[in-house]
Amino acid sequence: APPGVTPELVPISVAKLANEFSHVPEKFMLAEGGRPLTVFDNYSKEVPVISLKGIDSESERSRIVAEIGHACAEWGIFQITDHDVSTDIMNRMLEITMAFFNLPLEEKIKYAGKAGSFPVGYASGSHRPDDSLLDWRELFVHRCLPKSIRETEYETWPEKPDGYRKTLTEYSDTMDRLMTLLLGLVSESLGLPTNYIKNVGGGEQSEQKILFNYYPKCPQPDRTLGLRDHTDYGSLTVLQQNGIGGLQVCKEDTDTWFAVEPIPGALTCNLGDQIHVLSNGKYRSVEHHVVVNSNHTRLSLATFANPSRKSLMGPAPELISETNPAKYRNYTFEDYLPIGFAMKTRKAYDAVLLE
Ligand code: SIN
Ligand code: FE2
Repeated sequence: APPGVTPELVPISVAKLANEFSHVPEKFMLAEGGRPLTVFDNYSKEVPVISLKGIDSESERSRIVAEIGHACAEWGIFQITDHDVSTDIMNRMLEITMAFFNLPLEEKIKYAGKAGSFPVGYASGSHRPDDSLLDWRELFVHRCLPKSIRETEYETWPEKPDGYRKTLTEYSDTMDRLMTLLLGLVSESLGLPTNYIKNVGGGEQSEQKILFNYYPKCPQPDRTLGLRDHTDYGSLTVLQQNGIGGLQVCKEDTDTWFAVEPIPGALTCNLGDQIHVLSNGKYRSVEHHVVVNSNHTRLSLATFANPSRKSLMGPAPELISETNPAKYRNYTFEDYLPIGFAMKTRKAYDAVLLE
């Protein structure tokens, strides 16, 4: 491996495996009870789809806020249509992502994150070097906001394919505008001021990460997962997909998994742990995982909006009362990060936060 790259972090090209083996290797194999049940394209019609059309008119805005509030309380996930992220930038993003992951492993590992540090850059199988179970995916994490971080890390992003850095910068700004809008709508749906969630801990310093996921075709999709069960540790995630499904979400009351349909042009929005806690458990940080399939390579681009590290988190005081006492303790977002990276599930987080 090139100097500075920890080989354990990039053990293997999942894409290469997919071409060479007819069985899922041991390290990717899920235990019997943990294997995904549903076939990958049996999509649910129940996950809410919300049109943002007319968002600038007051009456439509209240319709949208009400629909979002309902979706956040019941599911913790919804899809949006009629948003203003152009098809053009979405397509260009999929092009650079696919072109990057199609590079030979020797090229990709030049961008591998360093073990022990915060996972940034390229990785394969897991973002943790010592993971005993691997996911059927390759990934690339970029830190995009605040702008000072993006400017520092810009030079560390891939130069090939052409336009990678510029396109990602444009996408970062586009998604920031969209997610500021969405965080505003979620705040309003809780009866809080529009800027409430965005400004937790100081909005200027809030963080954006953009994660590229590449899930190669898999010879035995029922034996592994593209990404294991988890909740997102930040505030809000917006996901773009390449038309191939695989995301499944768990509806908490039912313990049932629902397959999210990859609707052309739509973006999938899911709440993370920080909004779950801020809402005092009214809204859900949805548990999700990704199933793979034997016919198609799937791409997804996840944009995360997170509070700044020093932000003091906890249930919003405005939402707490004698009849609705705080269910979670206060903590700083920084203190939460190790819990988040451990990729535990909702129930595990609850246990920690209730301590
Ligand atoms: C993620 O949970 O980060 C990715 C989900 C997906 O690929 O659908
Ligand atoms: Fe996730």
